Amino acid sequence: MKDVNQINRRRFIKTSTTAGLTLGMPTILKSNPLKAASDEIRIGLIGCGAQQEVLYETMKNIPGIRFVAACDIMREGRLKKMAGRIRSAFGYLVNRYSDAETMLEKEGKHMDAVFVATPDFWHAPHTVMALEAGCHVYCEKMMSDTLEGARSMVAAMDRTGKLCQIGHQRRSNPRYLYVLNELIRKQKICGQIVNVNGQWNRSLGSSTEKTYPKEKIHHLPDAATLRRYGFNRGVDRQLDAAELHKRFLNWRFYKALSGGPISDLGAHQIDIFNWYLGARPKSVHASGGRSYFDDREHFDNVMCLFDYDTPQGNARAFYQVLTTTSAGGGYYESFMGTKATINISEREAYTKIYKESWVPSSEWRKLVDKGYLKKVSAGHSAGGSDAIASYESAPPDEYAIPGGIGLNTPYQHHIQNFFEAIRGKAKLNCDARHALESEAPIYWVNQAAETNEAITFTHEHLHT
Ligand SMILES: NC(=O)c1ccc[n+]([C@@H]2O[C@H](COP(=O)([O-])OP(=O)(O)OC[C@H]3O[C@@H](n4cnc5c(N)ncnc54)[C@H](O)[C@@H]3O)[C@@H](O)[C@H]2O)c1
Repeated sequence: MKDVNQINRRRFIKTSTTAGLTLGMPTILKSNPLKAASDEIRIGLIGCGAQQEVLYETMKNIPGIRFVAACDIMREGRLKKMAGRIRSAFGYLVNRYSDAETMLEKEGKHMDAVFVATPDFWHAPHTVMALEAGCHVYCEKMMSDTLEGARSMVAAMDRTGKLCQIGHQRRSNPRYLYVLNELIRKQKICGQIVNVNGQWNRSLGSSTEKTYPKEKIHHLPDAATLRRYGFNRGVDRQLDAAELHKRFLNWRFYKALSGGPISDLGAHQIDIFNWYLGARPKSVHASGGRSYFDDREHFDNVMCLFDYDTPQGNARAFYQVLTTTSAGGGYYESFMGTKATINISEREAYTKIYKESWVPSSEWRKLVDKGYLKKVSAGHSAGGSDAIASYESAPPDEYAIPGGIGLNTPYQHHIQNFFEAIRGKAKLNCDARHALESEAPIYWVNQAAETNEAITFTHEHLHT
């Protein structure tokens, strides 16, 4: 087992020198035939924590797959639990590993696809290793804790000719696709989108430190294992077992292990800004504070502002991630146009559309009649005798997208898209290059907030 820092460095040097060879080839053309005779997809899992459980629960209902192997450095609790779930659903045992490199050496030839759901600082090494072992990869977002790591993943995808889907699952979500393709692009219901707003606000209850039950503490990897797998990164003194366990369970708090809330939660939503606007930002201003959790390395609240030149014109997008309040309706992205605003979210309840009052109702009646939209309610004025009519716009009417364009599970379509691409029947909706084109600006937000200086993006900041 090599140290995570060695693997990152070695593979980055290797990948960055060979990346040019296959650059630009459409990923779909490079997908190799399945290793099994049938079109059954044989799967390995790396990291069996909370998110891999969610991915597994989705995958297990998709026909035509077989789980071959699973890996986690926490053998008790997580690896054992995952193997148990697979056994009770499918009736067979997977081969269990605590080291990903060993798993890939032994099983790589027999697997078609590997799902990576480890902490962010392990994504690049695990993805590059799995691609080099001849497997297609589905890796969770944020691609990596560093831009260098994310770039090494793109280079490995190009070099090996394997598929690499990044877990920005909204890219395959029928609701997000419908709103972009039908409502914004085809029917142009927003008019010119001049402003965008997005947020992920979480209450203290969702932001507390994770602990492990005392009676099961022996399930956690021991200190030597956690050091070997890099959970002491960024610290120049010997950490004891309790400190290492805290870092293992709460890797999102540490700069050497993750990008903090702006990358953990913002990655999904800033990706949507760039995708929907069809552009990458020109600059970012940001402010962040350790305003409540003053013992955490990352900001507990970040507000940032991106400036865009979109195909429609200039636009500005504001994004905030808060970990001390759930105020303002949780998480959504809001596209504010001259004719209408669309609030969209993975939660159907947060997805709402508002027509500006000056747009004739007859125009929208036609859209309702054709089934593009349904009307929810006419605009209600706030009421009260304190209204200052000359300053206020008339309230907008509320609409919704037709029923049935929701999702039972937000991950299903993205995973299905990955499987279809492996079978040569689809193009990936979010391959590593597209993911990085969109993710690259996010890597600069913490720096802009830390220095209180706006960053104007150049090729050096954003290139893949
Ligand atoms: N797409 C989404 O909506 C979404 C949602 C939640 C999490 N995620 C992403 O999924 C990833 C995992 O998050 P999580 O919440 O499951 O974290 P987690 O801590 O619950 O799980 C991580 C697992 O990886 C294991 N692990 C750590 N280092 C390892 C190594 N070197 N080799 C093998 N196993 C190792 C840990 O033991 C743990 O079981 C993160 O990148 C996160 O950003 C994505």
